[in-house]
Amino acid sequence: MSCTILVGGNFGDEGKGKIVSHVAHTDKPQIISRGGVGPNAGHTIVVKDKKFGVRMCPSGFVYQDARLMIGTGVLIDPTVLLHEIEELGIDGRIFIDKRCSIIEQEHITEDKSNSHLSKKVGTTGTGCGPANRDRAMRTARQAWEVPELSKYITDVALELNTALDAGENVFLEGTQGFGISLYYGNYPFVTSKDTCAAQMAADNGIGPTRIDDVIVVYKAFPTRVGSGPFPTEMSREEAQKLGIQEFGTVTGRERRIGYWDPEMARYAAMINGCTIGAITGIDHVDPDCFGATRYSQLSKKCKDFLSQAEDDIGAPVLLISTGPELDQMIDLRADTP
Ligand code: GTP
Ligand code: IMP
Ligand code: MG
Repeated sequence: MSCTILVGGNFGDEGKGKIVSHVAHTDKPQIISRGGVGPNAGHTIVVKDKKFGVRMCPSGFVYQDARLMIGTGVLIDPTVLLHEIEELGIDGRIFIDKRCSIIEQEHITEDKSNSHLSKKVGTTGTGCGPANRDRAMRTARQAWEVPELSKYITDVALELNTALDAGENVFLEGTQGFGISLYYGNYPFVTSKDTCAAQMAADNGIGPTRIDDVIVVYKAFPTRVGSGPFPTEMSREEAQKLGIQEFGTVTGRERRIGYWDPEMARYAAMINGCTIGAITGIDHVDPDCFGATRYSQLSKKCKDFLSQAEDDIGAPVLLISTGPELDQMIDLRADTP
């Protein structure tokens, strides 16, 4: 039996979707359940040249043998969810908590038209902030009240704890990232909830004593979408020289790009209780390492970067992503006693 949480250590978009799909295929959890804010998230998973963009469902859907769940902490946009279930062909193995709060059209309209949210904070316009406000005001609808969702409704907390009692493996996937946490990020340029590991446990109804590992995913060159401070941000020209250009999965906005931030890496590791560090985009440190699957194939430049990162994080970096595709991955967990 084991319970692992995965979260982002930068400003979101660290490539959590890619790491989740790798870990799921390797660790074979019986259940993969999502925490985090809601459909403001966008994960990209590339399998054999086919690219999936996921906003509501767990990125772990690519691992066919797991049951998929969405914990009570997550906001549900029924239109986005139902569309995704059909597109991903996961009807019959995805379930949502009966207590999830619902995003209504009026929340989306407000998020897009309110200039504090859309212009100052630079939200994704998916209605999450206004919906979380109504949840706190206790005026929101819950998932069990929406007829179209009835076949997916369950008690996720009960399902997950029962699975752990039976000796099964459970994987909890987080969304967003440390730097946009409502509690720990650069307020007010943050999302509408905490984004750390403890929140992902709460979102899914798992007590802190049941968590075995916390994987924190960092990007070799962190990115940020929307407004807010970014101390290590580089110019567009510098990013172009490094061959990095990224666009948001949900909004299509160009992502701001920065250098590795040692201070942020350590602080995020501390608050998340990181036991395993994961680093994506190592191919941007040295393009020669693109697609490597063994540590020995990495250049000195990459190895030096990783060893410095490990010092900064204060936990072993055991998952190294060398490209967007599922198998472009180095997994050192088995080599570690
Ligand atoms: P959020 O929940 O929105 O924070 O998303 P996410 O962490 O799943 O990340 P997202 O998919 O939005 O962005 C990561 C981008 O990096 C995607 O386009 C991935 O395909 C890509 N990616 C992931 N790992 C690597 C890698 O090792 N190298 C390169 N070059 N790209 C990668
Ligand atoms: P909101 O979550 O839509 O309210 O947006 C608040 C801030 O968080 C904005 O800067 C968004 O760009 C950012 N944000 C929210 N979700 C994500 C995500 O999944 N990845 C990256 N940034 C995000
Ligand atoms: Mg994303």
